[in-house]
Amino acid sequence: MPRVLITGANRGLGLEHTRQYLVKGWDVLACCRTPATATELIDLANEYRALEIHQLDVTNHTEIDECATILAGTKIDVLLNNAGILGADLSMGLQHQTLSDMSYDIWRELLEVNVLSPFKMISAFQEHVASSDMKIIMMMSSDLGSISNNTVGGVHGYRTTKASLNMLTKGLAAELEPLGITIFSMAPGWCKTDMGTELADVEVVDSVAGQQCVISTIQFADSGSWFNYNGDPVSW
Ligand SMILES: NC(=O)c1ccc[n+]([C@@H]2O[C@H](COP(=O)([O-])OP(=O)(O)OC[C@H]3O[C@@H](n4cnc5c(N)ncnc54)[C@H](OP(=O)(O)O)[C@@H]3O)[C@@H](O)[C@H]2O)c1
Repeated sequence: MPRVLITGANRGLGLEHTRQYLVKGWDVLACCRTPATATELIDLANEYRALEIHQLDVTNHTEIDECATILAGTKIDVLLNNAGILGADLSMGLQHQTLSDMSYDIWRELLEVNVLSPFKMISAFQEHVASSDMKIIMMMSSDLGSISNNTVGGVHGYRTTKASLNMLTKGLAAELEPLGITIFSMAPGWCKTDMGTELADVEVVDSVAGQQCVISTIQFADSGSWFNYNGDPVSW
């Protein structure tokens, strides 16, 4: 069966990806910052032998390299760069990302987690992906990262990180082409996670089911593209 590596797998969209891939019979490498307190992942590991939990803070590049070394020789069909933040905390992050009130500390942290970390993950794991059958990397973007759809402003910190992530998708598609790797961005919709809150309009299970459908049907010719969880293209 194929194997997927998921960052930020202990809750939200990452946890649901873990669940749904386990149900499909995939091997899952679930990465999270604190495995000891990842109770839902631990419960899943007790149920599914195909689940391996790895400790990984994606901002810690030494940890990323160590994880890649531990997994040397392991084929990773799908690298799911999912871990991300909206801001230091939901209300505070949004309040402090405006023209009149910007927290540069929050913005720097956003760049670290949402842009530098996925890049480092790809740099460390490209050979694991290239040696697999499917050779797919998914970048968890956001509709808020669309430049052409941004007509209202605000949330500048988060928006710029997801637009940057999309730029990486496009640029790395060209660089990873010789390795046969397909890389694409995903807009998961506004989902009912800790980040999205209960006000969101998309159920986590539906978003993830749609995303996994996109992953299973994506073609090499689609590399460098951006899709939403329904498989529709999103405008940069
Ligand atoms: N929910 C939405 O409506 C929505 C919409 C568009 C895009 N997205 C994107 O989808 C992705 C997942 O979001 P979500 O809604 O599932 O958010 P979430 O419920 O807040 O979960 C975020 C996940 O990222 C992990 N994470 C954060 N910083 C990390 C770090 N330094 N190292 C490792 N893991 C880290 C968290 O781990 P901890 O538990 O350790 O904090 C958690 O597992 C994000 O990239 C987000 O930007 C979400």
